[in-house]
Amino acid sequence: MGMASHFLILSLLISFTFATAQETGFVGSLDRKSLGLAQKDMLSHFLFYFHERFTGSNVTTVMVVPPLPKYNATSNFGGMGVTDNALTLGPDPASKVVGRIEGLFAATSQTEFNIVQVVNFALTEGKYNGSSIAVLGRNRLSQKVRELPVVGGTGLFKFATGYVETTTLYLDSNRSTIEYNIYVSHY
Ligand SMILES: *[C@@H]1O[C@H](CO)[C@@H](O)[C@H](O)[C@H]1NC(C)=O
Ligand SMILES: *[C@@H]1O[C@H](CO)[C@@H](O)[C@H](O)[C@H]1NC(C)=O
Ligand SMILES: *[C@@H]1O[C@H](CO)[C@@H](O)[C@H](O)[C@H]1NC(C)=O
Ligand SMILES: *[C@@H]1O[C@H](CO)[C@@H](O)[C@H](O)[C@H]1NC(C)=O
Repeated sequence: MGMASHFLILSLLISFTFATAQETGFVGSLDRKSLGLAQKDMLSHFLFYFHERFTGSNVTTVMVVPPLPKYNATSNFGGMGVTDNALTLGPDPASKVVGRIEGLFAATSQTEFNIVQVVNFALTEGKYNGSSIAVLGRNRLSQKVRELPVVGGTGLFKFATGYVETTTLYLDSNRSTIEYNIYVSHY
């Protein structure tokens, strides 16, 4: 193939792309810089703890819709609730607060205590203040370490992707301490 035919193919490609953009009228490509994003993504590891209270005057995690009675001693199937807890730097509830975890959960297995959870990690510390990480996935509470996907974020976490590893460090009928390791790629 000669120079001329290469040029022809290139011109066809360009006019095709241009025609597609013109045809739809609602999509165009962007430089990351125009959105104030770094040109290269970075990978960060965050470690947070939170402390749920299920009883007492300051409940942080509550089942709003009770499970179907048939499942109330096993998988809690049908139960749905909300949670809002301080995120701390350490496993001690008195350690420094750096944000909150707010979200919803629903017990979605008939056979084991699994929840689908949708939670936002809303950070308040340093340059992360005002940014959030969204986690949505299946949390198999019977497992020691559970893995959930990071599905996005806001602020410094625009276009975030990644995953979470979470472990229950302490649990009784009144309270829990949960550890979250978040591995997140962001701009
Ligand atoms: C519950 O929260 C209220 C208001 O923030 C606070 O005054 C109270 O000490 C808390 N009680 C407990 C048991 O943590
Ligand atoms: C579970 O459901 C059964 C049947 O409706 C009921 O008798 C029992 O009190 C319930 N237990 C709890 C913990 O809600
Ligand atoms: C985070 O930002 C809010 C709103 O801009 C501000 O009121 C607050 O003091 C900031 N928190 C920290 C820890 O810097
Ligand atoms: C939960 O709290 C109640 C009321 O304070 C208390 O009687 C009970 O012993 C606590 N249960 C556990 C496992 O700590």
